[in-house]
Amino acid sequence: MGNKTLYLLLASVLVAYYIYIPIPENVEGRWKLMFISAVFRTVGHLGAIADKLGLAHYMDILMMITRIEIIPPVSDEKVTVTDTKFDGIPVRLYLPKGQPDSLKRAVIYIHGGGWCVGASAMEPYDRLSRWTSERLDAVIMSVDYRLAPKYLFPVQFEDVYKVAKYILQNTVLEQYNVDPSRVCISGDSAGGNLAAAVAQQLLDDPDVKVKLKIQVLIYPALQTIDWNLPSYQDNENMPVLPKSLMVKFFSEYITPDISLKKAMETNQLVPPELSHLFKFVNWSILLPERFQKGHVYTRPKHGSSELGQKYPGFLDPRAAPLLADDIKLRGLPLTYMITCQYDVLRDDGIMYVSRLREAGVPVTHYHVEDAVHGAIMFITSPLILPMGQKVANNYIEWLNKNL
Ligand SMILES: *[C@@H]1O[C@H](CO)[C@@H](O)[C@H](O)[C@H]1NC(C)=O
Repeated sequence: MGNKTLYLLLASVLVAYYIYIPIPENVEGRWKLMFISAVFRTVGHLGAIADKLGLAHYMDILMMITRIEIIPPVSDEKVTVTDTKFDGIPVRLYLPKGQPDSLKRAVIYIHGGGWCVGASAMEPYDRLSRWTSERLDAVIMSVDYRLAPKYLFPVQFEDVYKVAKYILQNTVLEQYNVDPSRVCISGDSAGGNLAAAVAQQLLDDPDVKVKLKIQVLIYPALQTIDWNLPSYQDNENMPVLPKSLMVKFFSEYITPDISLKKAMETNQLVPPELSHLFKFVNWSILLPERFQKGHVYTRPKHGSSELGQKYPGFLDPRAAPLLADDIKLRGLPLTYMITCQYDVLRDDGIMYVSRLREAGVPVTHYHVEDAVHGAIMFITSPLILPMGQKVANNYIEWLNKNL
C-alpha cells in the first residue's frame, strides 16, 4: 500500500468519524440527517472560532444558514405572496386566490431559530406557509421579529405581540376578509415559545376583543429553570439542537452576560425566594410514566438571588410560558401540541400539555416517535426527510379540520 492510499484511508476514517453520530434506527433518513448535522456542526465550530478570535459573533456565523435559505416573495396561480409591514414589523403575507368572496381563516405564524436566527423568508417556512394557505384557503401572516444578540428579551416577544394585536382588530381582519372567529397563532421551536407567550398575554389585554381560536405549538421551548429533564439527558447531542446550542440560544435571548449561560449549564437558576416555581416544571408529576423511564427526579439546585434580580427575564412567563400560574392558563384556546421523541425540548411540550389539560384547556397532542427537533423544516430540497413531510402534513391536516 502506497503512502497516498494510506493517507486517503486515514482521511476517510476521520471524515466518517466526524460525520457519524448515533441516531436512533427508527429515524428514517438517518444517514442524510447525519450529513445535515455535520454541516450544522461545522458552521457551529466556525462560529465558535470566529467568536473566540473576535472576528464575528457566534450567531452572525450561524445566521449564514438562514441567509442562504432566504427566497424572495413569489406569487403563483394559487397564492399571492408579498413582504409588508404590520404596525412597523415586517411580515410575509400569503393571500389565497381560491374563493375570493368567502370569509377566510387566518394563521399568524412565528418562525423558529432560537430567537437569534431564522426568517419567515427561509425556504422551508415559505413552503409551509404557502402549503397552509393553499390547502386551507387561509391568510397566513408570517412574522419577522427582531433577533438576538442585537435585540434582547422582551423585544422578540413584543414584536410578535404587537403584530398579533394589530391583526386581531376587526378593521384589519375585514380588510383581509378574515373570519374573526377563525384566527390561529402558530410557531415552531422559539416561535412556539413566542406563540405560547403571546397567547397567554393576550388573555389579559383589555384592548383585544377578538379571541384566538387555536394555538399551535410545534416542539416549543417553554422553560428556563430545569435543564436536566429526561429529554435533555437523553437527547443532549441529538441533531439539530444539542443541549449546548439550546443553552446558547436561551441565554443569548436574555443577556450576553455569560453568568446566565453558566447557571443554565450547571442547572442553578431559581433563587431560593422563588422556590415555588419548581412545581411548574416538576416532571415527576407532569410527565407521563413512559417519558420518565430510567430517570429519577431531583430538584435543581438554587441559583443566586443576584442573577434573578439582574436578569428577571429568564423567570418571566413571557420568556418561559411554563412558569405562568395555573389560573393564567385557564382561558387559553384549543391547543395543538407537536413534540418529537429525540428532542431536548420534548418534555417542555409534554409538561405544558399536562398543565393545560389540568387547567381545562382542550389539547390535541401529536407526539412523533421517530423525529428530531426541527422536523418540520425538512421539506425542501436538498434537505427533504420523511419526518418533514409527515409532520407538515399532519399539521396542515389538523388545522384544516379544526381552524
Ligand atoms: C415534585 O413532585 C414530587 C411528587 O412526585 C414531590 O415529592 C416533590 O416534593 C416535588 N418537588 C418540587 C420541587 O416541587
